[in-house]
Amino acid sequence: MKFFIDTANLDHIKEANELGILDGVTTNPSLMAKEGITGQANIEKHYQKICDIVDGDVSAEVIATDFAGMVKEGTHLASLAENIVVKVPMTKDGIKAIRHFYENDIATNCTLVFSSAQAILAAKAGATYVSPFIGRIDDSNWDGISLIKEMAKIYAIQGFETEILAASIRSSMHIVQAAKAGADVCTCPLSAIMGMFKHPLTDLGLEQFLADYRKGNN
Ligand code: G3P
Repeated sequence: MKFFIDTANLDHIKEANELGILDGVTTNPSLMAKEGITGQANIEKHYQKICDIVDGDVSAEVIATDFAGMVKEGTHLASLAENIVVKVPMTKDGIKAIRHFYENDIATNCTLVFSSAQAILAAKAGATYVSPFIGRIDDSNWDGISLIKEMAKIYAIQGFETEILAASIRSSMHIVQAAKAGADVCTCPLSAIMGMFKHPLTDLGLEQFLADYRKGNN
């Protein structure tokens, strides 16, 4: 399973990248706004800064909602750096745009996916990635991980090549569950990645090893 970080925070991206296990970055307009990045020119500069840090795929989301606008904007975003993946919302025009990008060798991430029916449309259109929003589904009293399982089953039966990118991840437990459910990628906040390190027995065990070493080497 690939690991993406879901943020526009450059310090978080650098910290995750330095672990050596980061495969990419996802952003969205809300994450950009959270970092105070506003105005299209600044947003584009920020994508370039992210692409300078990370070799893997970096999702850059279109703001246009009509087919022609998405194609124009997405084509421009894809020209900013080789590793840009154009993030397109799950709408009728979005699906048409994903198909257009597929036919023009531009990688895409179909975002705001909340059902297997939508996931089938994204795969049929040729999306590189499809992003089911696990946390938001859980927040709505449904089961986000069940959706990943169902999508993984359908994609395997049908031989779809679109990669399932588990998004809206809230915790390290979500990452483990998404991996078990068959997600190809997990995009997570830094806090969820760092949470994966934590186990009290690791801390206690290391403390004991060091104490024993010191006893024998003093
Ligand atoms: O990758 C999608 C993600 O950014 C949405 O996460 O936490 O706003 O539901 P969240």
